[in-house]
Amino acid sequence: MVAYKSKVVERIRLPSREQRSRALEEAGYNAFNLSADNVFIDLLTDSGTGAMSDDQWAALLRGDESYAGSASFDRLESAVADVMGFEHVVPTHQGRGAENVLYGTLLSEGDVALNNTHFDTTRAHVSNQGADPVDCPVSGAHNPETDEPFKGNFSLEEARAVVDEVGPERVPLVILTITNNSAAGQPVSVANTRRVRAFADEIDATFVIDACRFAENAYFVTRREDEFADATVAEVAREQLGHADALVMSGKKDGLVNVGGFVATDDESLFERCKQRAILYEGFPTYGGMAGRDVAAMAVGLREAVEESYVEDRVEQVREFGAMLEEIGLPVYTPTSGHAVYIDAGATFPEIPPDEFPGQALVCELYREGGVRGVELGSFAFPETDRPELVRLAVPRRTYHREHFDHVVETAEAVLEKRDEVSGLEIVSNPAVPELRHFSAALEPLSAEPATVTDTNTD
Ligand code: F0G
Repeated sequence: MVAYKSKVVERIRLPSREQRSRALEEAGYNAFNLSADNVFIDLLTDSGTGAMSDDQWAALLRGDESYAGSASFDRLESAVADVMGFEHVVPTHQGRGAENVLYGTLLSEGDVALNNTHFDTTRAHVSNQGADPVDCPVSGAHNPETDEPFKGNFSLEEARAVVDEVGPERVPLVILTITNNSAAGQPVSVANTRRVRAFADEIDATFVIDACRFAENAYFVTRREDEFADATVAEVAREQLGHADALVMSGKKDGLVNVGGFVATDDESLFERCKQRAILYEGFPTYGGMAGRDVAAMAVGLREAVEESYVEDRVEQVREFGAMLEEIGLPVYTPTSGHAVYIDAGATFPEIPPDEFPGQALVCELYREGGVRGVELGSFAFPETDRPELVRLAVPRRTYHREHFDHVVETAEAVLEKRDEVSGLEIVSNPAVPELRHFSAALEPLSAEPATVTDTNTD
């Protein structure tokens, strides 16, 4: 049931077909290069793109901008204690800031970090310490068609195999990402969380939960894990997070804010070490790279995120959107996640091989047909992995309504109708950092004249 109404609105505009075609060409067929003014429905990410509540805006005005000892920090501390069950908080400018602070403290050269699946920035921060990020997804995680309830789980079997190979002393860190964003946003059960806790104890590792989407994950637990059928989302969140030694959090997701993040822990010594590193990279530990007002808004957002009415409305909206796309014959990853609908572009365009980026072709066509922006998470974003050719349509929180989704569905229908005419793409300009190529590489459709590759990587 709908849980809110609009108080402030923002105009959006659908550019003409001609303008969209030109914008796409000028963006080098890369949706990251599109100006947001030219985007009608923006499903690029659910991160920092949601609408704040009136209570959050009120908190913003009352934010305390004191350099040290800010009252806004006290409010954040008490929200983290109440909602997540942790005593100590180190605020950071966003999730990756928290990753830098925590993983920079916990990892050294030659270490191995295990994770159900490392999100891009997590992988980069682990690697940046000279450590090796190893994914341990369950076997069905990358299968878009099975209907299991917790495809985001951490595979203890995979993890044990890694520990047997490298030795437990090389694995000081086990991370559980809830929900598992890089495995189609699938949830993790509390039972699995408890097993990961026991495993971390066995090998004497620190157990960290990446809690970006902890409330959405908790909602799935109340619906899919028998033990929690009568529990509230707030109760599940505390139970699940309580198994970790520390949390990394991007407030831009289930903190319901446009910017912010933090590390939370009950471990005094870890807290002290994180604070020192935070001073270096983020700011004094009572603001940590955020304005006091943003800290205040995040404190309110965390409490709202576990309100039953909010989270039910949120996750069910995404589920309905997925069902609408499935109904028109689009191959949608099932079950639908809590924050995005993932489409199997390889199955949408079976004629386009992975090295011609079927996912990117779908992203471009959704924009050309209806001004809808999504993101490719297949061979273009992750070269040399054997993941499915997924496109993610992420849903900003409390932002879009049924009519917006109707438009996206009509757009997808138009793309499906002309699917035989859609061609693959080739990269014509590569950025200097190949791992980050999907943010800035330029492409061209293969139906156009053959292009000359300009490689800006001068190494
Ligand atoms: N961990 C996970 C699981 C994430 O999904 C993200 C961000 C981060 C960490 C980093 O947080 O952006 O605040 O620095 N995910 C965004 C996305 C960017 O679009 O999925 P951040």
